[in-house]
Amino acid sequence: MAKQRSQYVCSNCGTTVAQWVGKCPGCKKWNSLVEEVVPKSSKRQYRESGSSNSALPTPLKDVAVYTSSRHTTGEEELDRVLGGGVVAGSLMLLGGEPGIGKSTLMLQVAIKASEAGQKILYVSGEESPEQVRMRAVRIGEVPESLMILPETKVPIILNALKKDDYSLLIVDSVQTLDQPEIDGVPGSVSQIRESVASITSHAKTRSLPVFLIGHITKEGSIAGPKILEHMVDVVLQFEGDRNHAYRMLRASKNRFGTTSELGIYEMLGDGLKRVENPSEILLTEAGDPTSGSAISVSLEGLRPILVEVQALVSTAVYGTPQRSGTAFDLRRLNMLLAVLEKRCGFKLASFDVFLNMAGGLKIIDPANDLAVVAAILSSSLDLPLDRDICFAGEVGLSGEIRPVPRLEARMAEAARLGMKKILVSGHAKMPKAPRGLVVVPVKRVSDVHSNIF
Ligand code: TYD
Ligand code: MG
Repeated sequence: MAKQRSQYVCSNCGTTVAQWVGKCPGCKKWNSLVEEVVPKSSKRQYRESGSSNSALPTPLKDVAVYTSSRHTTGEEELDRVLGGGVVAGSLMLLGGEPGIGKSTLMLQVAIKASEAGQKILYVSGEESPEQVRMRAVRIGEVPESLMILPETKVPIILNALKKDDYSLLIVDSVQTLDQPEIDGVPGSVSQIRESVASITSHAKTRSLPVFLIGHITKEGSIAGPKILEHMVDVVLQFEGDRNHAYRMLRASKNRFGTTSELGIYEMLGDGLKRVENPSEILLTEAGDPTSGSAISVSLEGLRPILVEVQALVSTAVYGTPQRSGTAFDLRRLNMLLAVLEKRCGFKLASFDVFLNMAGGLKIIDPANDLAVVAAILSSSLDLPLDRDICFAGEVGLSGEIRPVPRLEARMAEAARLGMKKILVSGHAKMPKAPRGLVVVPVKRVSDVHSNIF
């Protein structure tokens, strides 16, 4: 019998080499090569596909325009993030840390879609049907047409799919899939790649949309090969602070829509509920204003959201002052502190600075800079800000306040939530302010202080 040949595949970029090396020659990443056995049939498959007629070039103009039919999942936030619903035959990967609520979200989708008359197959490779049933009991009624299959072997899953006409497949999780023809344990690069490839080809021929749940690693990327993200049409990230109930759903890749939409959920005792008015929950309901908190008018996707930024500036106990931020980029915090020191003469070198975004939602918008600066000023001077002042502006390295996009929408949201005053960039083209909102243009960081206290 011929000896089995091994090759080494980069789990990051998929480059294949014959000998193990420490650094991938393709993407230059260290320690990303894993061993896999060369599939015996690979050469034959290549010749077959090479001689097929489909490989002939055709004029692009003659290709039929693909009018993708979408159907809703019943989960409004998810639909919005997907760009209006699920596209037939598409593969969607849902990534997130353990315990964040991926299985719960997918089970909710399965239940709602079944209620709407669709036939759903939920493949559970991680949990027993009893466990899934228990979760379903918490969420609500279980419809007749929701089928569960506790299985990890890909051929058995495909067989089950062929027997019935399903309108949605959910696989929990992709790391448990096992393609027996391929060597390697479930979760390995070759296993994930081949299993997903088999499911993809089935899904595309039958126009079956598929949700794949994927675990993420400590570094925050989806466990397994990076090429998995290239194989699917949509990559969704489910994230949030485990100590808070709020969860954010966003698309980091979407072949059928934008990646700028954001869905916000709250994990309650009976499943995930959509948060319709995120601004109202992200502002802590404090009676008396306290120092160190400032309200930022952020933008997530196309929606303006008011978030409370909290800063605590205190004398450093140790030689090196600490800078720490939950849900805020530490490098950005350091940059803002440096700007405050250099452009305003505000010395914070011997102080610890802690920063927190209320609700623990990681909202990345440079427009938060101005509120961060205001919160730091307020905490270090121990002067509270009025509860009806808010901020929207980016801070540049020379201390200038830069304009931010969609100012009009931000102002409208601020006015809706009862804000009376907003500080914005003095360099911005000023839209008409909504009634009751005073717009204060500031050009430099050094002008902020005199306008808020
Ligand atoms: P789960 O969906 O199992 O997370 P994942 O699949 O991402 O690992 O959800 C895990 C957590 O959610 C678990 O700690 C329990 C909690 N939970 C609720 O708070 N309310 C609920 O209704 C459900 C179903 C789960
Ligand atoms: Mg799970």
